[in-house]
Amino acid sequence: MIPGVRKAVASASPYTPGKTVEEVRRELGLERIIKLGSNENPWGPFPAARTAMVDEISRLNMYPDVSFRELKELIAGQFGLKPDWVALSHGAEGMLQTLGKVFLDPEDEVVLSRGTYGLYREISLVMGAVLREFALLDNYSVDIAGMEKSITEKTKLIWLNNPNNPTGLILPPKRIEEFIRNLPEGTWTVLDEAYGEFALKGSLPDTGTLLEEGRNLVVVRTFSKAWGLAGARIGYALARPELVRVIDTVSEPFNANRMAIAGACASLREDGEAFRSALKFIVSERGRVSDVLRGMGLKILGSSTNFIFFTLPVEAEEVSRKLLKRGIIVRPCGGWGFPRSIRVSVGTSEENTLFLETLAEILSEEKGENV
Ligand SMILES: Cc1ncc(COP(=O)(O)O)c(C=O)c1O
Repeated sequence: MIPGVRKAVASASPYTPGKTVEEVRRELGLERIIKLGSNENPWGPFPAARTAMVDEISRLNMYPDVSFRELKELIAGQFGLKPDWVALSHGAEGMLQTLGKVFLDPEDEVVLSRGTYGLYREISLVMGAVLREFALLDNYSVDIAGMEKSITEKTKLIWLNNPNNPTGLILPPKRIEEFIRNLPEGTWTVLDEAYGEFALKGSLPDTGTLLEEGRNLVVVRTFSKAWGLAGARIGYALARPELVRVIDTVSEPFNANRMAIAGACASLREDGEAFRSALKFIVSERGRVSDVLRGMGLKILGSSTNFIFFTLPVEAEEVSRKLLKRGIIVRPCGGWGFPRSIRVSVGTSEENTLFLETLAEILSEEKGENV
């Protein structure tokens, strides 16, 4: 422990991101690397976003317009809300960090699932909050009933990810709506819908109505996944205007950059068709990859995202290492408590096929070794 560093900081661990192409190239010296470990969208950035971002380069000497007026209007329009219900951030991660600072005093309790996005835990620990973690149920579903029962007057925040990373599963929308309507006065839910665009219409809770009813809800979304702008780092929250003002006060002043704003605005204004066709492709490939994995005798969860969670008869860490040696990055799920499971993103057709063929080879080698 370095003298002077806050005690709460020592209790947190570094976030473990998926491996990058650059990292694998450095480590293994491979030419062809396929990245299916971070749930990116191979079809982004979409055409209008690309043009707008290139055009914006000439203005990078200037700070962005911090009212973020146009982007807030475009985002709000998508949800039938007014622009003052939107706060922007440097990726959804930036928003999650800010929300930790907005809500968490030392010793506040936070409720979260153990099998979910890892950042909620670390943000809470850094803020000195006390964790109440819930294992996933046997069917891998988030234990929303257990979480609900555990709420006390000390509970400040509930982190809920729907669709959930790493399982790809969603909770019934009515169940989430009921959960949020039942929150006591001082307890808030951060509903992270980073993968919301991939879910079927009607399968997510009606967050617009919940927000307009004045519920203790903040919805977090991102341009990183379905909009294919992960490297631009832009995300946002939907919340009632008085909370948006607090979020904007707490977050860094210029919390979205010019390139990202230009890309996101152009995407929402002009890239609808490219967005819809990418989604259609991803959903269809998700079905194909799931079918092939199932055909290999593996257990697959039905995904509402751009990734698939599946379980092997052997250790996932070892299989992932072998995939990596052959240039394919996936995410073994041992860190989430699932040592035989892998999360794989949906890539291009060629990438998916190569992943499936390589996995089949590795599994047949493993079988050979075990006889
Ligand atoms: C559930 C979830 N929330 C938030 C994020 C962070 O997204 P962003 O790239 O917008 O920071 C991710 C990224 O993988 C995620 O899976």
